Amino acid sequence: MRPQSCPLPSALLPLLLGLCSGTSFPTNINIGGLFPGDSHEYEVFRFALAQNQDIPKLVPQVDMVDTSSSFAMTYAFCSQFSKGVYAIMGLYDRRTVNMLMSFCGSLHVCFVTPSFPVQTNNQFVLQLRPQLQEPLMALLEHFYWTRFVYMYSSESGLAVLQRILDTAAERSWQVTSVNLDSLTEPAFIKLLADLDYKKDFQIIIDCELKRLNYILNLVKHSETKPNYHYILANLGFLDLNVTEFQKLGPNVTGFQLVNRSDPAVQKINQNWLDFDNKDLKVAPSWSSPGYTGALTYDGVSVMATAFQNLRRQRIDISRRGNAGECLANPPAPWGQGIDIQRALQQVRLEGLTGHVQFDERGHRTNYTLTVMELSHIGPRKIGFWNEKRGYVNTAIYRPMQEEFYNVQNKTYIVTTILEAPYMMLKKNHEQFWGNDKYEGYCAELAAEIAKHVGFTYRLELVGDGKYGARDAETKMWNGMVGELVYGKADMAVAPLTITLVREQVIDFTKPFMSLGISIMIKKPTKSKPGVFSFLDPLAYEIWMCIVFAYIGVSVVLFLVSRFSPYEWNGEESDDEDETTPEYTNDFGIFNSLWFSLGAFMQQGCDISPRSLSGRIVGGVWWFFTLIIISSYTANLAAFLTVERMVSPIESAEDLAKQTEIAYGTLDGGSTKEFFRRSKIAVFEKMWSYMRSADPSVFVKSTSEGMIRVRKSKGKYAYLLESSMNEYIEQRKPCDTMKVGGNLDSKGYGVATPKGSPLRNPVNLAVLKLNEQGLLDKLKNRWWYDKGECGTGGGDSKDKTSALSLSNVAGVFYILIGGLGLAMLVALVEFCYKSRIESRRMKDLKNSAVVTQHVAKISSVRADGGLGGENGRVVAHDFPKAGAQGLPCMSKAAGLGLSSTGM
Ligand SMILES: *[C@@H]1O[C@H](CO)[C@@H](O)[C@H](O)[C@H]1NC(C)=O
Ligand SMILES: *[C@@H]1O[C@H](CO)[C@@H](O)[C@H](O)[C@H]1NC(C)=O
Ligand SMILES: *[C@@H]1O[C@H](CO)[C@@H](O)[C@H](O)[C@H]1NC(C)=O
Ligand SMILES: *[C@@H]1O[C@H](CO)[C@@H](O)[C@H](O)[C@H]1NC(C)=O
Ligand SMILES: *[C@@H]1O[C@H](CO)[C@@H](O)[C@H](O)[C@H]1NC(C)=O
Repeated sequence: MRPQSCPLPSALLPLLLGLCSGTSFPTNINIGGLFPGDSHEYEVFRFALAQNQDIPKLVPQVDMVDTSSSFAMTYAFCSQFSKGVYAIMGLYDRRTVNMLMSFCGSLHVCFVTPSFPVQTNNQFVLQLRPQLQEPLMALLEHFYWTRFVYMYSSESGLAVLQRILDTAAERSWQVTSVNLDSLTEPAFIKLLADLDYKKDFQIIIDCELKRLNYILNLVKHSETKPNYHYILANLGFLDLNVTEFQKLGPNVTGFQLVNRSDPAVQKINQNWLDFDNKDLKVAPSWSSPGYTGALTYDGVSVMATAFQNLRRQRIDISRRGNAGECLANPPAPWGQGIDIQRALQQVRLEGLTGHVQFDERGHRTNYTLTVMELSHIGPRKIGFWNEKRGYVNTAIYRPMQEEFYNVQNKTYIVTTILEAPYMMLKKNHEQFWGNDKYEGYCAELAAEIAKHVGFTYRLELVGDGKYGARDAETKMWNGMVGELVYGKADMAVAPLTITLVREQVIDFTKPFMSLGISIMIKKPTKSKPGVFSFLDPLAYEIWMCIVFAYIGVSVVLFLVSRFSPYEWNGEESDDEDETTPEYTNDFGIFNSLWFSLGAFMQQGCDISPRSLSGRIVGGVWWFFTLIIISSYTANLAAFLTVERMVSPIESAEDLAKQTEIAYGTLDGGSTKEFFRRSKIAVFEKMWSYMRSADPSVFVKSTSEGMIRVRKSKGKYAYLLESSMNEYIEQRKPCDTMKVGGNLDSKGYGVATPKGSPLRNPVNLAVLKLNEQGLLDKLKNRWWYDKGECGTGGGDSKDKTSALSLSNVAGVFYILIGGLGLAMLVALVEFCYKSRIESRRMKDLKNSAVVTQHVAKISSVRADGGLGGENGRVVAHDFPKAGAQGLPCMSKAAGLGLSSTGM
C-alpha cells in the first residue's frame, strides 16, 4: 500500500490546491515576442527578461520576423498563439499594424508594444510610447510658431499631421508639410535650398531616430544659417548624435523621455553594459538603452507586474481548450484574455520612462516629457510637459557669453519717443546723421547698453508718437509697444512705464529709473527779513503783553511807593531856614516808568526802591525781564538771517485737507487712473474732490498743467510723475517745485519683444550700469547739470552768511528816530520854559517893585544864555539831591522850581 500511496498525493496536490483556491497559477508564463532580426528592442527584451527573476517567470517565445510583411507577421502571431502564449510583445509597422490590431481585438490577446502610437480604441494593444501631439502643440504655442515646415514619415507622423493641419486651419497658420518617405538625398538637399530661399526657418522633423540622424547630417552639410530653429518630434533627444550638431548653430529643441540622471535608470544602464559584454555575442551597439529600448524594458516590467498581481489575486488564466484556433471562422476569443488585459492596463510603476500608467484605451497617461535644446555648451533642459500643467518653461538664465553669439554684429532697431529730457533733437540736428541727431538721457542710456552688450543700433522715432496701449476695438497695440509686438523694432529705450498689460506682450528689463506720482506747486516767494524783523522772535501778542506788563508794573511800583513809608525820606534844605524837613519820594509816576524801562532794557537806574514792597515789585520785574530777554536773544539770530520759504503744501494730506488750492492731473493718464482705483482714504478723498471740481482740474497735457501751475498764483497744484516734476523744477522760469514724497512707485524699463535674445544681456547691462552708478550720473547730467535754475534750488543750509544792513536797519531807524525825538522834545521844553519865564518876568516888571532886582536878574539872564544857567545849576545841585548820573524827572522839576525861587 505504501508504495502505491506515494504517487497519489504528489499527483493530487496541485489538483487539490487548485480545488481549494479555485484555480492553479502557472509558475512559468509564456509570452510571445515579434521582433525584426537585429533590433535594439530585441536585445533589450532579452536583457529585461534576464533581469526579471520574479515568480511567475516569464518565458519568451520569440519569432524573428519582418515587421513590414503581413504574411510573416500573421504566421508568427498565429503560431505563437497556438503555442499558448499569454501575451505578446513586439513591434509593428504601418503596413502590419491594422492586421495586428484586428487579430488582438478578435482573439482577446494582449499586444504590448514600444512602437509608434496609433489612434485606436482597441484596448488589447497596450502602447508604451506616449503620444506627441499635445506636447508638440504646446511647444509650438510657446515659441509662437505660425509659419513652419512639418517633415514627417508616414509611419508615425500621420496622426500628428492630422492634428497640426486641424489646428492650422483653426488658427490660420501656414504649414508646409513634407513627406520624408519618398524623398531621396538630392531631393532633400534641393528642398533645404528651397526652404532657405523662402525663408522658412522653422522646421519640425518627425521621424525615427535613425532617419533623424541621417537628416540632421544632411542639414549639417547644407549651408544653414543660425536663425534656423528645429523641433524634433521624437522622444529620444539624448539618443541623437547631439555632439555632431552642436557646432551647427541652429537651435534644436526636442523631447527626452528617459531621465538619465535618475539613479534607478543609471543602475539599469550599468547592468545593461555588463549584460552586453557577457551574454550577447554582438558588440554593444548602444551604450545605454535608447528610448525604444527603455520602452521595451518597461513593457517587460509591466507584464511581470501584471502576472504577479494576477497570481496574488489567484485569478484563473489557464489556457484550456481553444489554443490554436487562430484562423477559426468566426474567431473564438480567448476567455481569460480580458482578465489579462485588465491586469496589464491597471499596472502602475516607475520605470525607465518615468511613471507608467495606461488609460482605458491602452494609451500612456500621466507621463512627463523633458523638453531639451542644444545650446552651445551642449544639450540642456529648458522645460517639461505633462498633461496636467502643459508646457512649463524652466530655462531661467542664460550666461551672457552664450547670448553674445547671436547679438553681436547686427544692427538693431531701437524705437523711442521725443520727450525731454529723455530724448531730444539736438539744436543743430540737421548737421548730424543717424543716432547723433539725438541727445538726452535715453540716447546716452541706449549708447551705454549697446557698448556693454556689444551691438550696433539705429534709433528710430515711433511712427505714431505714442507709448503703447491696446486699442479697445481692434485689439491691436499702438505706439512703441506695438512696434515691438509686431516686429518693427528690436528694443525700446524710452520712458516706458512697466505695467502688467505691457509685460504680458513684451519683456521689460529691470527698471532703469524709479519714480512715482508727485505734487507740483508754484514756488512760494521767499520772504526777505523785513526792516523790523527784530520784532519777529516774539509774537505780536507777546509784545503787547510786555507793554501792558511794563505799564502795570510801573503803576504798581508807583502806588506801592506812595503807600510805603520807607520810600519817603526827609531832606534838609540848607539854603532855607530850618523850618520843617521836606519829605520827598523818588518814585513819582515818571520815575516808576523810568525805573521799569531801565530794568527792562537791562541798564538799571540810579534810583531803586528802598521799601520791601517796592523791592518785591522790582525783583519780579527783573526776573520777568531776564526770562523774556533771554528768550528773545536766543531766537533773534535765526530770525534775522534765515530767508524762509513758507510752503503752504507739504504733502498729499495737506492737499486733501484744504480747499483753497485746487489740484488735478492729466486727463486720461495713468495718474488719473491711479486716483480712480486707489483704496487709500486720502487718495479717495482727493479723487472725489477732483472728479467733482468745477472748473475741471484736469488738463490735456503736461505742459498745460505746468502753465496752469505757473499762472494760478499758487492756487493750483498739479500731480504728475516725479521725474518730470524734477525736470520742470529745473527749467526756467524756475517757479515751480516738487513737494512731498511720491504717492506710488513704478519704474521705467527698457523693453524687448518676447523671447528676444537681447533680453538677458540688456537686462544685465542695465543692472550693471545701475551698480556702477552710471544711471545716477546720467540723471544728474540731464536734470541738474543742464538745469537752468542753478544748483540745488534754494536750500537754506549753506546760507549762514553775515547779517546784512537790511536785516538790522530797523534798529538804526529807531536810534535815529529816538535822537530826533529827543532833540524835538528838548526844543519844546526850552520854548515852553522860556515862555513861562518871560511871562513871569513881565509880571515882575509890571509890578515894578525894586529896580535893583530887575538889574540883577537881567544880568543873570545875560550870562546864562540858553538854559546855561539851568545846566550849571543842575550840575551843581545834584550831589545835594543824593541822586547820581541820571536826570530824574521829579528832580529836574524840583530844580526848576528852586531856581525860579532864587
Ligand atoms: C554618431 O557620430 C559618429 C561620428 O560621426 C558616428 O560614428 C556614429 O555612428 C553616430 N551615431 C549614430 C547613432 O548615428
Ligand atoms: C532659435 O529660434 C528662435 C525662434 O525661431 C530664433 O528667433 C532664434 O534666433 C534662434 N536662436 C538660435 C541660437 O539659433
Ligand atoms: C531626473 O532624476 C533626477 C534624480 O532623481 C531628478 O533630480 C530630476 O528632477 C529628474 N528629472 C526629471 C525631468 O524628472
Ligand atoms: C500620476 O502619477 C503620480 C506619480 O507619478 C501619481 O501619484 C498620481 O496619482 C497619478 N495621477 C493619476 C490621476 O493617476
Ligand atoms: C563682427 O564684425 C567684426 C568686424 O566687423 C569681426 O571682426 C568679428 O569677427 C565679427 N564677429 C562675429 C561674431 O561675427
